[in-house]
Amino acid sequence: MKNIFLCSLFAVCFAVLTFSIGASAAEENLADFHAGMNGCESCHVNEEPSVDGGYEFEQCQSCHGSLAKMNDNHKPHDGMLMCVDCHAVHEVNVGEQPVCEACHDDGRLAK
Ligand code: HEC
Ligand code: HEC
Ligand code: HEC
Ligand code: HEC
Repeated sequence: MKNIFLCSLFAVCFAVLTFSIGASAAEENLADFHAGMNGCESCHVNEEPSVDGGYEFEQCQSCHGSLAKMNDNHKPHDGMLMCVDCHAVHEVNVGEQPVCEACHDDGRLAK
């Protein structure tokens, strides 16, 4: 009897743990995460992407600063890339990091 009780208690604890891991932002993409701030207008005008992505790039920088002022994963790409070249905000989930090998084939890693 006691064993059965402990066992079901364990199952409950396990379920709670699994739930809280599942709920910890892991399944939310970056765009939805940011839309929680000011809606789609955090990055777009009228929920529509700009033709060249320039408006969205400006929005990223208005909150996060420019590539030139960020860490060594970012700085070398100043004037070369936009944020979304590495952070595909509608496809990538919160907590997922871009990998260098998407573009560099010499085995370099994020610092
Ligand atoms: C964090 C900034 C950000 C937020 C918030 C955001 N977007 Fe985007 N969105 C982008 C960027 C950057 C692109 C262009 C690159 C791409 O496709 O990922 C884009 C692309 C798009 C596209 C065209 C490409 C596609 O995915 O088909 C649509 C449509 C779009 N967004 C709609 C929305 C809507 C609707 C919302 C609100 C629910 C929203 N976006 C929230 C940054 C954002
Ligand atoms: C309205 C201000 C605002 C805008 C615009 C904005 N961000 Fe953010 N972003 C934040 C805040 C606040 C956080 C959460 C704190 C942090 O990680 O800096 C965040 C977090 C992030 C993260 C870290 C998410 C994680 O995995 O922990 C990334 C990557 C990011 N933003 C990229 C972008 C990109 C790319 C754009 C433009 C397409 C953008 N942001 C536009 C405010 C903004
Ligand atoms: C060359 C690819 C690349 C580009 C371009 C890039 N990032 Fe990142 N970003 C990364 C990598 C890799 C990480 C994870 C390692 C780290 O934190 O530096 C990261 C992490 C982040 C984080 C989380 C850092 C933290 O301390 O939590 C934010 C916020 C962010 N980037 C915003 C941006 C913004 C805004 C832009 C455009 C101005 C941008 N990134 C452009 C590769 C990139
Ligand atoms: C979206 C494509 C892309 C990604 C992902 C990317 N880079 Fe780059 N990187 C470039 C481009 C384009 C250049 C400029 C052309 C060149 O010099 O190869 C560059 C140049 C650099 C340079 C200066 C020139 C050189 O080759 O040393 C460094 C350092 C660098 N990247 C580091 C990184 C690191 C670290 C990561 C992973 C965090 C990374 N990059 C991810 C596209 C990318």
